[in-house]
Amino acid sequence: MSHSFFHFFLISLFLYKNCIAHRYTFTVREVPYTKLCSTKTILTVNSQFPGPVIKVHKGDTIYVNVRNRASENITMHWHGVEQPRNPWSDGPEYITQCPIRPGSDFMYKVIFSIEDTTVWWHAHSSWTRATVHGLIFVYPRPPESLPFPKADHEVPLVLGEWWKRDVREVVEEFIRTGGAPNVSDALTINGHPGFLYPCSKSDTFHLKVEKGKTYRIRMVNAAMNLILFFAIANHSLTVVAADGHYIKPLKATYITISPGETLDMLLQADQNPKRIYYMAARAYQTGNIAFDNSTTIGILSYFSSHKAKTPSFSGYYPTLPFYNDTSAAFGFFTKIKSLYSGQVPVQISRRIITTISINLRMCPQNSCEGPNGSRLAASMNNISFVTPSHMDILKAYYYHIKGVYGTRFPEFPPLFFNFTAENQPLFLETPRLATEVKVIEFGQVVELVIQGTSLVNALDHPMHLHGFSFFVVGVGFGNFNISEGEPSSLYNLVDPPYKNTMTVPINGWIAIRFQANNPGVWFMHCHLDRHQTWGMNVVFIVKNGREPNQQILPPPDDLPPCYE
Ligand code: C2O
Ligand code: CU
Repeated sequence: MSHSFFHFFLISLFLYKNCIAHRYTFTVREVPYTKLCSTKTILTVNSQFPGPVIKVHKGDTIYVNVRNRASENITMHWHGVEQPRNPWSDGPEYITQCPIRPGSDFMYKVIFSIEDTTVWWHAHSSWTRATVHGLIFVYPRPPESLPFPKADHEVPLVLGEWWKRDVREVVEEFIRTGGAPNVSDALTINGHPGFLYPCSKSDTFHLKVEKGKTYRIRMVNAAMNLILFFAIANHSLTVVAADGHYIKPLKATYITISPGETLDMLLQADQNPKRIYYMAARAYQTGNIAFDNSTTIGILSYFSSHKAKTPSFSGYYPTLPFYNDTSAAFGFFTKIKSLYSGQVPVQISRRIITTISINLRMCPQNSCEGPNGSRLAASMNNISFVTPSHMDILKAYYYHIKGVYGTRFPEFPPLFFNFTAENQPLFLETPRLATEVKVIEFGQVVELVIQGTSLVNALDHPMHLHGFSFFVVGVGFGNFNISEGEPSSLYNLVDPPYKNTMTVPINGWIAIRFQANNPGVWFMHCHLDRHQTWGMNVVFIVKNGREPNQQILPPPDDLPPCYE
């Protein structure tokens, strides 16, 4: 080894000690996986499930070459990454790009800016994200450092949902019949269902820890349709970040995590090392609907407990809140406070109010499989969003192509009624089908109030916004009271959490604020995928500002083509 090469090697070791690379190749392909005694092929990135972890420093720009070697269309989304001025690489199918066809490639440019901790990536076409997802670890850029003690080890922890059937079939079926999708067959921890499920004794996630050490769990809920409770027996967790941003350290004996959300938690390995401890996750589910009520289990053991190599199943189990325990779920959500104060916009430019509802549409001769032969749908401000099918909205916007979308998403609910009443007049259940966007001027401070309704089925909805983090300034039950003006007594303008996904409580509302300083086309939707498929979506178009650095970047030249 020549001297200079050795020197270079040392420098790279130093620079890349977290294995930080700025170029990744993601080859999407189908590979067979066996779980719960049944084998199917799933879509994967680089044959891994969950997919590979990406590691970056704050503010990095990375390039991910996504090569589609599968038999269906795909796009990739960098969930929680704001992508300043760069909607081209945001990913949602027919919103910011046409899909990458089988056999084609697209180079995503992922621009990190204010993200501090853990975010994630996932496919964003149909339900492909069920198996195509992974974590993104963000590290501080020296000389910046962490606002909490550095852990000895990092533990990626991906919560997921598994169907024995091909997910494509599940989707095809519920779209065709108009009914609810089949519920999943298992929940998973890092891809493992755990020993409570059939044939899964050896398919159980096992975390081995050393007494006295601290572990930083980087968690995402990558499940398709379930908000989850999670806990570890006898070990409390200190939550230090949510959705990629630091929070005030929060000690918790259980956590609630919605699809799309990420949490960073410190785990102290401080218990009797001779025992076995189980971790568990299961659904938080309100409303009168079928759901996967099974429990995924993982094992936590200490290195010194050699004898316990084969788990005896006699360890300690954690206690989780009951399935429909809304106060437990929101007790956790509302304890999350930003680490920082004084960053919330106090003056707003405009307040947009939108309902989010489950809806029903009539079928000929009541031939569908939703309630009373109808077809299930979902909406925002009574518009059930229709995703374009030939050209993406970003392209249509950027090149002034007419006929792809309208700009009439209502500023307020088209009808004011008692949104959360127990019995609703049936005519309210029918939505309008349309592709309407909301146009925002550059720099406007937007307050968005999202009001849940009890139409068809009152439920909790984790709402996710692309392109921004937002301050959750208010969360409440019942109807948001607009006539009283700013319900400031209910608002937190001091240290509200800074998030990209926030769950609207059953029969309740949230108020979020963001400054529209990121020009582009940004999707917002419920992160329960069945609701997204049914149309609980909207698109924000944030216009360019005056300055050159307030304008959308030019499009990359390898954008996947759209076909008529
Ligand atoms: Cu995590 Cu639009 O997605
Ligand atoms: Cu929803």
